[in-house]
Amino acid sequence: MKGLIPENILEDILGRTDIVEIISGYLPLKKAGANFKANCPFHHEKTASFMVSPDRQIYHCFGCGESGNAFKFLMRHERLEFPEAVELLAKKCGIILPQQSDPQAIRRDSLSSQLYKVNELAVSFYENNLSANTGLPAMKYLLDRGVRQETIKVFHLGLAGSGWDSLINFLRSKNISLDLMERAGLILPKEQGGYYDRFRNRIIFPIFDMRGRPLGFGARVLDNSLPKYINSPETPVYIKGRNLFGLNLAKDFIRDSDCAVIVEGYLDFMIPYQEGVKNLVASQGTALTLEQIKLLKRYTHNMLMVYDGDTAGEIATLRSLDILIDEGVKVKIVPLPKGMDPDTFVRKQGVTVFKDKLDSAESFFDYKLAVLSRRFDIQDEYGKAKIAGEMLLTINKFDNAILRGEYIKKLSETMGIPQQHILEELRKLKPSSSGPQLPAAPPADKKSSPINPAEKLLIKLMLEEKDLIETIMQQLTLADFSDARTSKIVSVMQELALQGKAVSPSLLMNYVSEEDAAQLLCETIFMPQLNELGREKAVNDCIARIKVQRLKSQLEHLHVQIKTAQSAKDEGKVNILMQEFQNLIKKGD
Ligand code: CTP
Ligand code: MN
Repeated sequence: MKGLIPENILEDILGRTDIVEIISGYLPLKKAGANFKANCPFHHEKTASFMVSPDRQIYHCFGCGESGNAFKFLMRHERLEFPEAVELLAKKCGIILPQQSDPQAIRRDSLSSQLYKVNELAVSFYENNLSANTGLPAMKYLLDRGVRQETIKVFHLGLAGSGWDSLINFLRSKNISLDLMERAGLILPKEQGGYYDRFRNRIIFPIFDMRGRPLGFGARVLDNSLPKYINSPETPVYIKGRNLFGLNLAKDFIRDSDCAVIVEGYLDFMIPYQEGVKNLVASQGTALTLEQIKLLKRYTHNMLMVYDGDTAGEIATLRSLDILIDEGVKVKIVPLPKGMDPDTFVRKQGVTVFKDKLDSAESFFDYKLAVLSRRFDIQDEYGKAKIAGEMLLTINKFDNAILRGEYIKKLSETMGIPQQHILEELRKLKPSSSGPQLPAAPPADKKSSPINPAEKLLIKLMLEEKDLIETIMQQLTLADFSDARTSKIVSVMQELALQGKAVSPSLLMNYVSEEDAAQLLCETIFMPQLNELGREKAVNDCIARIKVQRLKSQLEHLHVQIKTAQSAKDEGKVNILMQEFQNLIKKGD
């Protein structure tokens, strides 16, 4: 996609854009020396580690590692694709983008956008079926379940009729190939050849992504037959566990209320939503995934779990709790009476009682303890040990020592166990894997090997002074850079310099798509400035150090090869390698 927008236009847009102005439209920025800082909008933090550099026109968070230029900020914050971010900024600074409606551009459409288009057609096909005469029983079913007409529209609910090839015929009439229909998961191959519609005689719940693009479908029977739901298979655009049902409708409500109510099913979302509780998402089944949580964390760090009042819901709640806490989410639980889910609860008790329930959500502690006390006998010493042990597993997920301390105290008091025994058990547990990170600490999910400091400094210096690129690269080759990230950045810089282009960090950012390379780039930018004298010495030191390191690693590598050749008794090879070894050592002198 990036390639479609000419570089000079990107350059032009970035040249006329001030990242400080863009970002301060979203967050309050405070001056900090030559830079600006704020609390990071991409992770939860109390001390500001999000830096914006007006000189370099980039942002970087030292807490979570998120970094980029103005395009990237808009992509992340407004959840836009690259061309959309470009379009937005182009508009802001009055640059007209070349039209891309020529046939070639359309042919270049990615498979994903073709799949969205097929799905869109299918959504409208199913919607029409539901409002047609033949859709009356399905319509009655929905209305009987308390789903109102306008809700049916808002969610684009539909109906798959009884035909085996109704969708196929419809899509064929729109010139959609069978191959694409199959890739979209809408049709299945028959054993004897040919295809048939995947969904038949079912109410259709289209699943949209947070930007409102149809990814796939859930389909429910109209009676008690099984399976109750069937869903689209995984496709290039629909990956189960990666999206949350309803997020497209609820995201602004979630952001505004700074709280997300997590439910299980489609109806558990739709009924409360239509009654006015709008900050919801549905996990579509029981297992809340890490990816779903990360998605939701973009909007809020406060979550309420309202799962079904059955054993499956209880197990799923406990499992999700640990992941949520591990992810630094403030989570509370709303247990529902046995046999109820949010849909039935709202219909039977009304939305006011439901809202009250949300307001009186339980802490993880009270909820989990209550569940465990029902499962194990607290009077029995083994039961008691089991309950405390299970509680500790979750308590251990808290990164904050004060919170952990509070829960330990509470556990000791409620269960009548001396604190020292609890602490002893806690010590046996491994330190929790992740959790919210202190600023400055490397982000848990982006762990990568440390960067050679000399390479990092050299990149910084080259960025500051374009002329240095040539001087330095006369003495080093790309292979001298030990890391894929540093050599990628250097190669792009070299390329841009050769073409006589500007080598600004924010422009560079468009070429290094690898997350960690972009992050590294930003880190270098925020390293302290050197004066003229210091700079020259630093360049020479870095080059020398990089050369020594390269030599060392080459020697190490040869050493291993020689050993292998020796144990294979391959004397010829040993001799050649030894010679190479000698040559290298001489070179080092
Ligand atoms: N689900 C699924 N596939 C199934 C069963 C369930 O994808 N075979 C997902 C659906 O998103 C469903 C949710 O899990 O909405 C919760 O399942 P369940 O509680 O069984 O259904 P309800 O949503 O309560 O559906 P209904 O009220 O229509 O019975
Ligand atoms: Mn239900």
